[in-house]
Amino acid sequence: MHASAFVHRNYIHHPPIFSSCRRVCFASRLRSTIRMSLKEDGPSVAVVGVTGAVGQEFLQVLSDRDFPYRSISMLASRRSAGHHLSFEGREYEIEELVPESFDDVDIALFSAGGSVSRDMAPIAVQRGAFVVDNSSAFRMDPRVPLVIPEVNPDAMAHISLRKRGKEGAIIANPNCSTIICLMAATPLHRHAKVVRMVVSTYQAASGAGAAAMEELKLQTREVLDGKQPTCKIFKQQYAFNLFSHNAPILSNGYNEEEMKLVKETRKIWDDLSVKVTATCIRVPVMRAHAESINLQFEKSMDEATARQILEEAAGLVVIDDRSSNLFPTPLEVSNKDDVAVGRIRQDLSQEGNHGLDIFVCGDQIRKGAALNAVQIAEKLL
Ligand SMILES: NC(=O)c1ccc[n+]([C@@H]2O[C@H](COP(=O)([O-])OP(=O)(O)OC[C@H]3O[C@@H](n4cnc5c(N)ncnc54)[C@H](OP(=O)(O)O)[C@@H]3O)[C@@H](O)[C@H]2O)c1
Repeated sequence: MHASAFVHRNYIHHPPIFSSCRRVCFASRLRSTIRMSLKEDGPSVAVVGVTGAVGQEFLQVLSDRDFPYRSISMLASRRSAGHHLSFEGREYEIEELVPESFDDVDIALFSAGGSVSRDMAPIAVQRGAFVVDNSSAFRMDPRVPLVIPEVNPDAMAHISLRKRGKEGAIIANPNCSTIICLMAATPLHRHAKVVRMVVSTYQAASGAGAAAMEELKLQTREVLDGKQPTCKIFKQQYAFNLFSHNAPILSNGYNEEEMKLVKETRKIWDDLSVKVTATCIRVPVMRAHAESINLQFEKSMDEATARQILEEAAGLVVIDDRSSNLFPTPLEVSNKDDVAVGRIRQDLSQEGNHGLDIFVCGDQIRKGAALNAVQIAEKLL
């Protein structure tokens, strides 16, 4: 995909401004803002896939959280090499990702797809970098921790910059739908143990990357103008429509996205017995996923207790105003860190207090990808 497609965060400059800048060229590039996050004793960071939807969000989250760094390299494909972007008041040249990109890198944030991660993450690790990987390439590798910091931080307790040997390590970021689901389900699971979970997703265009967002915009204009919609990213009309998630269908009839929810939940909860089923749907929403989650508990869990647990959980906000019919929406959570949960109600179809329905919305580029990865990186410091 060409960098010119990505203007959603306005970091990327298309006409070259500086031609010889590799990594950070501090003094001569200084603009008016100097952030505290640029620190000589901070780690050296690489952002892989910086021109993409998640890559651009990495920059936003690093900046929002004042993540400390002594240098930062902006890496993408050959297509984007030579383009420029500004970050925290400095100009950077986007570089083509090559093995040497990881020389002297402490933390590499990867979001350039599974094949790039499979090829380059092991090289980065060999060269001493800690890789936080957003792709599915290593998620189910038993040697690789799969981490949501609010849920299972202990899975990466043995990994940190201070305990580094010659090599680094990979930590995988779960799938965005899994993160959003488990942010709400885990506090309840800790209290009453979830034995079965039924998830139905309503997934936004942004989950398929920057080009999918552009296609949804374009199709919406085309349909309103009475034109035939352009279908390049998705095979069918997306605007004013919805369809089963575009992930490949497997031999058991589930698609890959659905099976990620099943397998990743078991790994993150370290519970092979939990029964999970999912149906994943793409809806023509620009940003932020929604999920309907039905839970069955081993122990009793009444509605009031559930609401209190969710209100107290880190990274969650409860929006559950029955009198005004006000519940979480993708728009409400877009560009926000917290996952919103509402429609908290006892499941009438289950005996006693053993079933609960909830509805969650989360910005999957943010908590579902970039924010979660940066939180992991913070735990490495
Ligand atoms: N979007 C989400 O909500 C989300 C959530 C969780 C996880 N993820 C995962 O994050 C990854 C990126 O997703 P995205 O949505 O950001 O996709 P995207 O918008 O399509 O961006 C893809 C990025 O990868 C770069 N890239 C592609 N081929 C490359 C190569 N050979 N070498 C170096 N860089 C290369 C692209 O650079 P060019 O611009 O130079 O082509 C671009 O920066 C995927 O693995 C995805 O599954 C995405």
